[in-house]
Amino acid sequence: MEKTLILIKPDGVARSLTGKIIHRFEQRGLNVVALKLLTVSKAQAAAHYDEHKNQPFFENLVGFITSGPLVAMVIKGENAVKVSRAMIGSANPAEAQPGTIRGDFATALQYNVIHGSDSAASAEREIANLFKPHELFE
Ligand code: CDP
Ligand code: MG
Repeated sequence: MEKTLILIKPDGVARSLTGKIIHRFEQRGLNVVALKLLTVSKAQAAAHYDEHKNQPFFENLVGFITSGPLVAMVIKGENAVKVSRAMIGSANPAEAQPGTIRGDFATALQYNVIHGSDSAASAEREIANLFKPHELFE
């Protein structure tokens, strides 16, 4: 069974979308195996978004993701990475299909409510950045 890291970003938490978003993953049949509310450090945020470190939006992105509490969770299931990315929708909410989380809840590229790992290797790295092994209940 595959694992993936989901973040409900600070905008999603501030808008009280946490319950609705978790409900969608549970409804789909994916299992939450780790869950916490935390404010990530600048170092954790920079590590999480390392692939974007040379992008012009990187500093704003790190500033935003550290601006308040987010919900971090590990979900597990068959093809969890691909299934959850399809549920999340395109990063640009203008292109995100209705029925996806971003397509239903987001209108701005930076404030797009949620993150999901883009591969099993990214998931492993991103989970290790935010969780200790004993925090996962498998
Ligand atoms: O989040 P996802 O993997 O779908 O998209 P990404 O292309 O890996 O970008 C990561 C995050 O950076 C996005 O979710 C946006 O929040 C942010 N971003 C941004 O603020 N401005 C951009 N031009 C592109 C991405
Ligand atoms: Mg990405």
